[in-house]
Amino acid sequence: MMLELKSPQLLTDTELLAHIEGALTQVIATRSLAAKLKEATQYALLGGGKRVRPLLCLHCCAAANGNMDHAMPAAVAIEMIHAFSLVHDDLPALDNDDLRRGRATTHVAFGEALAILAGDALLSIAFEQALSCVIGAAHIAHELASATTEMISGQVLDTLGGFPKDFNPAQQLELIHRQKTGALIRAACRMGAFAAAANADTLDRLTRWGETMGLMFQVVDDILDETQSSQHLGKSAGKDAAQGKMTYPKIHGLAWSRDHVKELLEHSEQLLKPLGAPAQPLRTMAQALATRTK
Ligand code: IPE
Ligand code: IPE
Ligand code: MG
Ligand code: MG
Ligand code: MG
Repeated sequence: MMLELKSPQLLTDTELLAHIEGALTQVIATRSLAAKLKEATQYALLGGGKRVRPLLCLHCCAAANGNMDHAMPAAVAIEMIHAFSLVHDDLPALDNDDLRRGRATTHVAFGEALAILAGDALLSIAFEQALSCVIGAAHIAHELASATTEMISGQVLDTLGGFPKDFNPAQQLELIHRQKTGALIRAACRMGAFAAAANADTLDRLTRWGETMGLMFQVVDDILDETQSSQHLGKSAGKDAAQGKMTYPKIHGLAWSRDHVKELLEHSEQLLKPLGAPAQPLRTMAQALATRTK
């Protein structure tokens, strides 16, 4: 499918989101898979979601003066990995959640076996997508692989612990968040930069920006878990405290956590300064991600 994206200035995020939904729909619809697997992967991938990682990927490509069309397979790939991570995160052996994106989690709707296998399929199809990029495919696929491994490492720390001996609780917490959530968000940004064949300076800047956004995103997620309702979030609130998870509000308190979000946002604004006008959608996104309520 030719997406023919217009220049970013002409696109609102609503139009861009429609392109992303179209590409995500297409990637499963066009495959021949066991019927049950197709249904479960579609359920996990297409059931709502803010599409933060694909948006970051596409906007980072544009910020590096690339053509967004070239980043779309990378954007699809990162959302597939994210969807896989959520399906497995919700399993009884991990967070044991029954609500996701306002409806039953994949294992509740399809059973554990199919949820595990749907996660596996999303993971492998994501790499086919990454490798189909016309610019920077090898870098993009490598980035996706290393970030996915880092996310899994973070999930282990979050679920089972096992930190370096000299880490205090604050350092343990930051390590969990940078790995379980930050890695995929940073990768979304770097993959967009690779699709634009960005120069070393721009790549470095978008990497540091993505790292900052990634940590900020999970701090906000922790705050929302504590301050919002399940109905508003579309996922079960209050679970972190109930399960004794290490979170920013638990270790640092709510007020400090909120201040930290502001600090990370300000730092992210500094990082984008040299990128000028093409990075404007990233500034808008950063604001939205800092102030989101779901
Ligand atoms: C939820 O991510 C899991 C975290 C990494 C905090 P999102 O908040 O991006 O979830 P969706 O994709 O919008 O459902
Ligand atoms: C999300 O952490 C990390 C991954 C899914 C990799 P959470 O467990 O906090 O995410 P939610 O709150 O269930 O969305
Ligand atoms: Mg979790
Ligand atoms: Mg969870
Ligand atoms: Mg959470």
